[in-house]
Amino acid sequence: MGNNWLKSAVFYEIYPNSFMDTNGDGYGDLKGITSKLDYVKSLGANAIWLNPHYDSPFMDGGYDVRDFFKVSPRFGTEEDFDEFIRMAHSKGIKVILDLVAGHTSEQNPDFLRSAEPTENEMYDRFIWTRGEWDFPQGFKAIGGRHNRKGNYIVNFYSTQPSLNYGFNKIDEPSWQMSYKSEAALKTREWLKSVMRFWLDRGADGFRVDMADSLVKNDGDWGEKPATSELWQDVRAMLDKEYPDAVLISEWSNPQAIRAGFHADFMLDHWGNPYNLLVRGEEAPDGHSYFDIKGSGDAAKFAKGFTEWYDQIKDDGYLAIISCNHDTPRLAPIYSHDQLKLIYATLFTLPGVPFIYYGDEIGMKYIKDLPSVECGFARTGSRTPMQWSTDKNAGFSTAEKTFLPTEIDKNINVEAQQKDKKSLLNFVKSLLAFRKSREEFTSRDFEIVHAVGSEPLCYKRGNLLCIVNPLSSKGSVNIVVPPKSKELFSEGKAAKIKKDGIDVPPLSFTVFEV
Ligand code: NOJ
Repeated sequence: MGNNWLKSAVFYEIYPNSFMDTNGDGYGDLKGITSKLDYVKSLGANAIWLNPHYDSPFMDGGYDVRDFFKVSPRFGTEEDFDEFIRMAHSKGIKVILDLVAGHTSEQNPDFLRSAEPTENEMYDRFIWTRGEWDFPQGFKAIGGRHNRKGNYIVNFYSTQPSLNYGFNKIDEPSWQMSYKSEAALKTREWLKSVMRFWLDRGADGFRVDMADSLVKNDGDWGEKPATSELWQDVRAMLDKEYPDAVLISEWSNPQAIRAGFHADFMLDHWGNPYNLLVRGEEAPDGHSYFDIKGSGDAAKFAKGFTEWYDQIKDDGYLAIISCNHDTPRLAPIYSHDQLKLIYATLFTLPGVPFIYYGDEIGMKYIKDLPSVECGFARTGSRTPMQWSTDKNAGFSTAEKTFLPTEIDKNINVEAQQKDKKSLLNFVKSLLAFRKSREEFTSRDFEIVHAVGSEPLCYKRGNLLCIVNPLSSKGSVNIVVPPKSKELFSEGKAAKIKKDGIDVPPLSFTVFEV
């Protein structure tokens, strides 16, 4: 069962390069994040997910860790990190870090040691074939870069050698070791030591990068028995030594909860319920329920979501994102008025909300930006936070920033704080409302009406939520007591009639029924 604080957590994801630069070098830093904690709190968030802050050559935005026990000098000093955690905690904000469990940077000293031509204590920490001409099928293997005889397997980019957590099914005994081998178990213990190091420094848990990728040849994505066994072991360590810490997986499959994670992200993987709701470009037929043209289907979303939720609800949580550093932001595909309805829906579904920095002001995905630090298409979602219309949108005083800043008179914190009807103020009132009703953090969830592009209705306990994403009015023939109280609305509120409910265009309403 998830830890208590997770139940009512609302996360704000911060990509440290892009949030706030206090030393004028054009990159965001930890001091910058510390200086904006009150802002994070003012949104109604009570937790932060910090993308990798470790020492790194940044060949994959920091997901290529050179030193797992060191803060990247780009982001500040060790003291800046400790101060950030201390200040966050003093304001009631939890902090989870990114645990890059499956791979290191090619510049990681343990990897370089393992790449030496003679056997040493790191020989089996990474996965090496035994011959220089071995390029095994089904793996990405890199050769010819080091003097060790053999090629090494990478987990993602060619700069990210896979750590050796062993194999479940062994096809090539000359170089594949069991996940129960001494070498594989040593890697696992090393991972626990990384976790203990940051938990002892005050971290409240981890978002685990590519959590399903650790044990190789481990079968289907929705099963992965050996990888699951590994995480159950890690979870047992946490339960014993750090019972308040949480583990949240990038796995996007109910199996993650069975493997011991407290929560798992429902990501924009092909055809899953999240895409069927808001990301048509990743839905099988190219349509999602929130398409203004009404070409999506609420029933498809409802079926997929309920099936997934039913499998995990007794043991863990779904982490539900507005977007993240890997996905295109929802603006400008959707207007701010549509985003209000989308956030209202996402954050009243059963799950733990994750707001990606800047989504609360409707920052746009910037198309066709040249890739920086191997962000490629993701680069457009990583541009600096827009605080104001000052130089570099108030993000930095540098002449050149890490990525170009967008200056927009409406899409910035300062302007939206002043505008009662802004997306920012809506997000605040939505989260305040969510917090005021314990139904939203309960496990209760029931789909009441999900038919084509008609208004979607679902219940959280006694609360009935109704959303109409279309620009035409709708109606549903659900009969509720006429005296049901309207508690929250965006757009014009839905109206209860004797034989049903009229639902105005572009609206979201919550009734107590
Ligand atoms: C998932 C992370 O979210 C992404 O940014 C990264 O490139 C890969 N994992 C590799 O670590």
